[in-house]
Amino acid sequence: MLRIAFLVGPAVVSACPAGYGKPVRGSPCMICPEGTYSAEGAEVCTQCEAGTWSDLRGQRGAESCGMCPAGTWSSQLGAISPEACQKCPEGRWSNRTGVGAIAGCQRCPAGTWSGKQGATSESVCIKCAAGKWSPQMAATSEEACVSCDAGRYNPKAGAAAPLSCVTCPAGTWGDAVGADSEEACTPCPVGTFSPGRGAISSESCAKCRPGTWSDTVGASGHKTCTSCPVGTYSTEEGATSSEICSECGPGTYQPILAAASSELCIKCAVGNYTNGVGQSSCHFCPEGTYGDAFGLTKCTECPSGTTTAAHGAIREGLCMSKTGSVVFP
Ligand SMILES: *[C@@H]1O[C@H](CO)[C@@H](O)[C@H](O)[C@H]1NC(C)=O
Ligand SMILES: *[C@@H]1O[C@H](CO)[C@@H](O)[C@H](O)[C@H]1NC(C)=O
Repeated sequence: MLRIAFLVGPAVVSACPAGYGKPVRGSPCMICPEGTYSAEGAEVCTQCEAGTWSDLRGQRGAESCGMCPAGTWSSQLGAISPEACQKCPEGRWSNRTGVGAIAGCQRCPAGTWSGKQGATSESVCIKCAAGKWSPQMAATSEEACVSCDAGRYNPKAGAAAPLSCVTCPAGTWGDAVGADSEEACTPCPVGTFSPGRGAISSESCAKCRPGTWSDTVGASGHKTCTSCPVGTYSTEEGATSSEICSECGPGTYQPILAAASSELCIKCAVGNYTNGVGQSSCHFCPEGTYGDAFGLTKCTECPSGTTTAAHGAIREGLCMSKTGSVVFP
């Protein structure tokens, strides 16, 4: 009993030479095994720290522990061979030696990926192609790259956010996913327009309504649809030229813009006429004539020797003798 108390008591605590240590308290100094070292004056051997290793016995300092090389890491304490060093996994890289935790392997940034183990430089991280993006750090395959939605495009490689996918402008549409240039946004054809951005189908190009036309490609608003002028009409939807505006015929007039039907060509009222096409109003029958029907192209002369008191006469009975008396009551 006395002997044991002596052995574990502080009086026997004594240092070992460099490269030696006591496996347990009170035991003799032994040569430090592989994976450890001890400096002069230490009582125990110290394990090589994580990220380092030693395959020799009797080592005298931490600097005798070899570093795991760049592109590898090890969390093992007291490792006895470089085989303890594991490659940084896919999606990561490290240009430092002696990395003691997997977190010491840097992650490829969002918008990139790497399928290689043991990479020693960030250049191993491959950018997602233009037209794609990826929010993931440390991505390990190209499958992490997500295509831009239809109606959008992204001209830059290595995008990390969906906002990198630019919306097709108003007046265009794009049905392709993963588009990499604005050329994927197809302009609406003449005769149509599309006010919304990011359209995904040609059906979003609305046709100019009847009575209007447009020769503009990629129009974004209905204001590009030009109205057929007064005196004309058009029944065609999505018309592409002013030539579709038909003139109202003689004897009719049409006072509004963008008329969409021939029924809007109104017959001149009695007492009025037109002899031209495309008229916006009729003329009064001049003095000395009368118009007794709708839609006249010319007025009838009063019988000889008679005339009217004013223009716009609506029946023959208004023709009076030039001396003042009504000839045909
Ligand atoms: C390691 O990589 C970082 C980031 O790319 C760089 O700034 C640093 O200089 C590199 N260190 C060495 C030792 O190459
Ligand atoms: C006949 O034509 C004149 C001149 O354009 C116009 O002022 C008048 O309102 C027309 N009459 C009718 C009934 O439409």
